[in-house]
Amino acid sequence: MENLQLKTFAEYKKAYKKSVKHPETFWDEIADTFTWHKKWDKTLEWDFSKPEVKWFQGGKLNITENCLDRHLEKLGNKTAIIWEPNDPDEESRYISYRQLFVKVSHFANVLKNNGIKKGDKVCLYMPMIPELAIAMLACARIGAVHSIVFAGFSSAAIARRINDSECKMLITANEVYRGSKKVNLKEICDKALEETPSIESVIVYRRTVEPTPMKEGRDKFWFDELQKAEKECPAEVMDAEDMLFILYTSGSTGKPKGMVHTVGGYMVGTTYTFQNVFQLQKNDVYWCTADIGWITGHSYIIYGPLASGATTVMFEGVPSYPDYGRFWEICEKLNVTHFYTAPTAIRALAKQSLEFVEKHDLSSLKVLGSVGEPINEEAWHWYNDNIGKGNCPVVDTWWQTETGAIMISPLAGITPTRPTFATLPLPGVQPALMDDNGEEITNLNEKAEGRLAIKFPWPSIARTIYGDHERYKEVYFSTYENKYFTGDGSYRDASGNYRITGRVDDIVIVSGHNLGTATIENAIDEHEGVVESAVVGFPHDVKGNALYAYVILYDNVEPSEELRKEIRELVSDTVGPIAKPDKIQFVNNLPKTRSGKIMRRILRKIASNDTSNLGDTSTLLNPEVVEEIKEKALV
Ligand code: PRX
Repeated sequence: MENLQLKTFAEYKKAYKKSVKHPETFWDEIADTFTWHKKWDKTLEWDFSKPEVKWFQGGKLNITENCLDRHLEKLGNKTAIIWEPNDPDEESRYISYRQLFVKVSHFANVLKNNGIKKGDKVCLYMPMIPELAIAMLACARIGAVHSIVFAGFSSAAIARRINDSECKMLITANEVYRGSKKVNLKEICDKALEETPSIESVIVYRRTVEPTPMKEGRDKFWFDELQKAEKECPAEVMDAEDMLFILYTSGSTGKPKGMVHTVGGYMVGTTYTFQNVFQLQKNDVYWCTADIGWITGHSYIIYGPLASGATTVMFEGVPSYPDYGRFWEICEKLNVTHFYTAPTAIRALAKQSLEFVEKHDLSSLKVLGSVGEPINEEAWHWYNDNIGKGNCPVVDTWWQTETGAIMISPLAGITPTRPTFATLPLPGVQPALMDDNGEEITNLNEKAEGRLAIKFPWPSIARTIYGDHERYKEVYFSTYENKYFTGDGSYRDASGNYRITGRVDDIVIVSGHNLGTATIENAIDEHEGVVESAVVGFPHDVKGNALYAYVILYDNVEPSEELRKEIRELVSDTVGPIAKPDKIQFVNNLPKTRSGKIMRRILRKIASNDTSNLGDTSTLLNPEVVEEIKEKALV
């Protein structure tokens, strides 16, 4: 588990230098530590202008042999997954590497029995239960491509994703517990399935005993299918560049982007970064609180930790149930050593009484992590002081669905940390801070601010957007020549430490969820009373950002609270409850440039109650609307 770890800052610096000077040798040596059926012929082939990136071409492997089979001899009885249920009175589940291996192989045969083959796409819409991990690994075992959709998304959002990648199968659960609520996932799926012609079968895991309506010929229960399946399932031999999964992330246009990750590079990238950032030791217990429906869960609950032979915790519930001490209760109960969460959770918990923290013994903790959005100074200190008691390094890890693995982060206990800074790039990552003229700011010894790009490929970079390579090129490789553009702004201090300042495009991160404003606008515009809308983010002390919608109504439609409610519901049904705008202002017009583009910069400032300097409005077609909107702003 510790075989890839750098142990000192000097070692980090040496490795970093080598990774820049001799990237191929650097990654060759790391990749060599995994189990391959055949070694690769070519380490790297790339051309950001196409764009094309290929790692370990010709190499043959299966990621589940690296996550499971290769550990059986020495770690077979070690706990791979500890599952903590929503209800603290229900029993935790401990699944050893051997048990996980057996369960994954067994379920892989269920997939095969239902006609799933290498290359087929399987959609997973599941709660945080071990069966989600089993299903995803079972897909990987037989070379099927999993497309996990976060189980908070609406029917319409599931259908859109299933149709985009033409999934043949959907795996779900009948119901899910979330805090004091029970959500009927199967019902949500049934609605989605009305519009998904590619789905041939649906496997349903019974999380509760409630009766579940099943469609004859299409829907099958997980346990019934297991009864019919063989237990052993040899791993499909995959090419390093074969697809491992598709994961959708929000984009600046309405359509979500299906990011494609491939087997070899993703495995090497997630495992190397997991071991180095978190620095786990043999008996440590690692808990990442993310949902597996997001990239953090893919890379750092499942693939990175399991390929490293670690013990990884999966939690079904929410931080506030049965009370705000739940996270700390679990840390105490399971002796968690490494705790990885999002700033939005930290801020929400920091608002509660400290008693929720103090009544639990957190002395097992060694390392704290943060991910998903910038962590503000106050939250950083609360986390460091009250949870880490000043003794646990805080690793602020910057990365993206597209990068597959952590890119900029301290190595726990090794890299000097600085509150709110993700600090230094990991070995193999070559950031470029770009100025307003599109030039790289190369002086690392001077403070600078700009936009963040990456100038050299790393193994776990997403290879394309499923079905739309042109869009992949346009979004990530057309802003700067020969560089990957992250969409983030960044500050760099005179020691070369990076602080990510936030998105510079039309994506807003709300409670750590990446939301494209265009998708939400499309949903609002569906309302029969709405002519047009514009959605922007504004700062929120718990969620990081919240959404503010400016909505133009038809002349014959009266603004009302009822209408606001309808619009919120519509967004909830079309995208998901997380995308509901906090504020809806009805306006007569939107500020537009002469070319007809909405000037969002101004709307953002108004929503943020920062109107002292609205900047240049002279290029607007209708500057008078700005005053009008400002006067009635909901701030
Ligand atoms: O804006 C950055 C922010 O989250 C974006 C990526 O979101 P997503 O693809 O959903 O992946 C989230 C989990 C990796 C980035 O473009 N972000 C992520 N981590 C940080 C961050 N912003 C600041 N600091 C971070 N540590």
